[in-house]
Amino acid sequence: MRLINSGISPIHEEGLDGLLRKNISAGRLRASTKLEVAIVNADISIIAVGTPFDGSEIDLSYIRKSASDIGMCLKLASAYHVVCVKSTVVPGTTTDVVGPILEELSGRKIGQTLGLCMNPEFLAEGSAVKDFMDPDRIVLGVSDQRAGKLMSDAYAPFCCKDILITNPSTAEMCKYAANSLFATAISFSNEIANLCASISNIDALDVMYAVQLDRRLSPIIGDDRIRPGLMSFLLPGTGFGGSCFPKDVKAFQAYGQKNGHNMPILHSVLDTNKSQPDVTMKLIKAAIGDLRGKHITVLGLAFKPGTDDVRESPALLIIKMLLSCGALVNAHDPVAMNSAKEVLMDDNLNYYNELSESILNVDALVLVTSWPEYKNIELIEALKNIPIIDGRRFLDKQKFPTYFGIGCSNF
Ligand code: UGA
Repeated sequence: MRLINSGISPIHEEGLDGLLRKNISAGRLRASTKLEVAIVNADISIIAVGTPFDGSEIDLSYIRKSASDIGMCLKLASAYHVVCVKSTVVPGTTTDVVGPILEELSGRKIGQTLGLCMNPEFLAEGSAVKDFMDPDRIVLGVSDQRAGKLMSDAYAPFCCKDILITNPSTAEMCKYAANSLFATAISFSNEIANLCASISNIDALDVMYAVQLDRRLSPIIGDDRIRPGLMSFLLPGTGFGGSCFPKDVKAFQAYGQKNGHNMPILHSVLDTNKSQPDVTMKLIKAAIGDLRGKHITVLGLAFKPGTDDVRESPALLIIKMLLSCGALVNAHDPVAMNSAKEVLMDDNLNYYNELSESILNVDALVLVTSWPEYKNIELIEALKNIPIIDGRRFLDKQKFPTYFGIGCSNF
């Protein structure tokens, strides 16, 4: 709390520190542990707590606790108030779990002095500030018109072209469907990539590029071709990680199963994704054989560039596998080193602050996170003599005589 009130974001997110400082100094933002004051003086409370997947369903204990705490505070006031769920929750949670807790503990009735909203969050890490300020769409799943009006007014300054007002369950479903589509695009690309790699003389990068150039995917308007963001998900790689896709697809699939739908596509999406770090390991072994005693540099620890988040990062899985095969690992990341150190320490793992030092005298280099600065390694002469394993198809394969890339049939 003290960190936030002094304008410092506890996470690495572009533009967030500046935004915190601007709004704190303008008196528009203040973090507090005094829940009662915060709730009673607000028109809208937003629940944005975690909903971890426990293996069979999402854990709603933080949601329940937040709803209880807010409900108790609302008992002390009488003005109209909307409680908005931002956390990713399965359909029915806002209406059937949050609503009843709020009504019971606040003594209020939804539709009278209490409104309910489910407003899924569509921010990607690394571009979260931009995504929030300039949203693609805003989905408001509301209990009634009055709640819808208050929520739409709150979002009015963001000038979003598309505000979808619906019911809470539909809003909850939107979030899972959206994340599952992108995760499916990644696993689809990786399934094709793994097939390409097993056949001589096919590079999945060329194949996927040709697929992307279909004008239904990349429309041509006038003389220009539009490159929609989805295209960056139709690429071969070492799989998706982070706090969203893996958890959400698992939770969605479990939710489907609970409702009598096996969700076979999502099953396969998860299976393919689970095997991608192994595919990277196979490439490393194909490149340098027995890993015992070999010095290997892993470039990138964050689950993707632009963040210090290492949750479900394929890099950590790959490092663990390398260590278990007896390799000596050098690790580098421009911002995620401290987060990685909190979860992964080993005598045979050395963290390097300097990229140039991390790549000295090693037997192979494995790129797992496509941080823009890693492009510079294409210019380093000393790396022309060692195998480069590109887990993101980020480097120019022509620049390295011994290049191994996912989806590239080179061995
Ligand atoms: C994702 C969604 O993109 C957001 O719209 C959503 O709001 C957010 O989850 C959420 O649920 O909160 P995020 O997890 O931050 O955002 O990151 P993405 O940029 O979507 O990347 C997810 C993973 O896919 C990363 O591990 C990335 O490396 C991987 N990825 C991406 C690939 O493996 N291949 C690709 O071609 C593209």
